[in-house]
Amino acid sequence: MAGRLVTIEGLDGAGKTTLAVALEAALADRGVDAVLLREPGGVELSERLRGLVKDPELRIGGPAEALLYAAARAQLVEERVRPLLEAGHWVLLDRFVDSSLAYQGAARGLGIDRVRALNLIATGDLVPDRTLLLALDPAAGRARLAGRNDEPDRLEAEDAEFFGRVARAYEQLAREEPERMRVIDAGRPAADVLAAALAELEDLFP
Ligand code: TYD
Repeated sequence: MAGRLVTIEGLDGAGKTTLAVALEAALADRGVDAVLLREPGGVELSERLRGLVKDPELRIGGPAEALLYAAARAQLVEERVRPLLEAGHWVLLDRFVDSSLAYQGAARGLGIDRVRALNLIATGDLVPDRTLLLALDPAAGRARLAGRNDEPDRLEAEDAEFFGRVARAYEQLAREEPERMRVIDAGRPAADVLAAALAELEDLFP
């Protein structure tokens, strides 16, 4: 595939979306045409599934949750990500498989390997060229979320232990795949986070 797939991961409140938007512009300055997408979402089915998984009123068990995220991912990959990569675009994805490994595999206790196997079906074995992990102390992430005005969604309503498990799983994933997954200290100003992210992508530039 001619394009590049770059994914952004981290806890809720780590600043993934801020980085993704800044990165899209910074890449354009370097002549790289990147398409920014988010998970769950990006295409009609996946946006509808997003509404379901985030709904605090809805009862969703761990396995169903993993399958819903995987279904949203499968459709996004088929409808948008793969065609974009094949056409030579860069795709910047705000969350991807590693989110499911950390949230459903580790924090929900389904098992990282089982959730990984499920996601191989969803993505057709698509692996990011690079993953930027925005590392932030879970307490700092929660404080940032609390500073936003909106109501917590179904996942954000989980307790500190849950987010501790997510953070530890991300650290473990990064240790296992240091070439793909680069850890960026997200406790710094946005401009510094962007500069660090660009440095981690340097070798992918045309
Ligand atoms: P979102 O609003 O995108 O969160 P954020 O802006 O913090 O990225 O909502 C996505 C939520 O879904 C977030 O709490 C993480 C969770 N999630 C999973 O648990 N598993 C997944 O596979 C994905 C993609 C997201």
